[in-house]
Amino acid sequence: MKGRDVIIACDFSSAAQTFAFLDNFGAEDRKPFVKIGMELFYAEGPSIVREIKARGHSIFLDLKLHDIPNTVRKAMRVLSSLDVDMVNVHAAGTSAMMQAALEGLTREDGTRPLLIAVTQLTSTSAQALRDELLIGAGMEETISAYALNARSAGLDGVVCSPLEAASVKKTCGKAFLTVTPGIRFEGAAKDDQVRITTPAMARELGSDYVVVGRPITAAEDPLAAYYKCIEDFCG
Ligand code: C5P
Repeated sequence: MKGRDVIIACDFSSAAQTFAFLDNFGAEDRKPFVKIGMELFYAEGPSIVREIKARGHSIFLDLKLHDIPNTVRKAMRVLSSLDVDMVNVHAAGTSAMMQAALEGLTREDGTRPLLIAVTQLTSTSAQALRDELLIGAGMEETISAYALNARSAGLDGVVCSPLEAASVKKTCGKAFLTVTPGIRFEGAAKDDQVRITTPAMARELGSDYVVVGRPITAAEDPLAAYYKCIEDFCG
């Protein structure tokens, strides 16, 4: 695994918008690790993955699979042929589904992208967890238990808020990756996120990767915002 890194969430609805954004980064700039999520993937299909890969970026394909094990196994087989660096599932799909995902993702030569599991979305509040999802165990306990399920199923890490990164590491070990969205610069709008921290705080809390969308993509100067994130998080 590489060291700490900032992953930019390219939550755009077209290839044109995405490339216009990526063109902010010149040949002499650091080549950002990018996240392709549902919006862009559903709009453009697998070709967008191939095109961004061809530009030399590492890619986290964030499609958050959650279905019966057989369906997820077969879907992962397709995704593993796209040569991305990281993919994910919802841990709520259970250990059987996560194991099936891992099987589907592993190529004949034994290689595969990193596979991580979403524990609870960073937009989910403790109140929604209790009152809507009817999970009475509390956020931190739920996330640690889901993380342990993911580790037991053979996954490489979890998506969680930086606020939970330390307890995930405590439960699952230091090498178990924490990929953490919910990042905002000091004093910025939270948007729809609930469990948020600054990049510097995410570093202190032990995140391995921060996933940053609007604070970079909607910034007046996206390049400066990216480098500020790199400086605060990677040091
Ligand atoms: O714009 P913002 O920084 O809030 O973007 C965060 C990104 O991380 C979005 O692409 C969102 O889908 C993703 N994400 C998240 N919470 C999770 C998993 C993924 O916010 N638990």
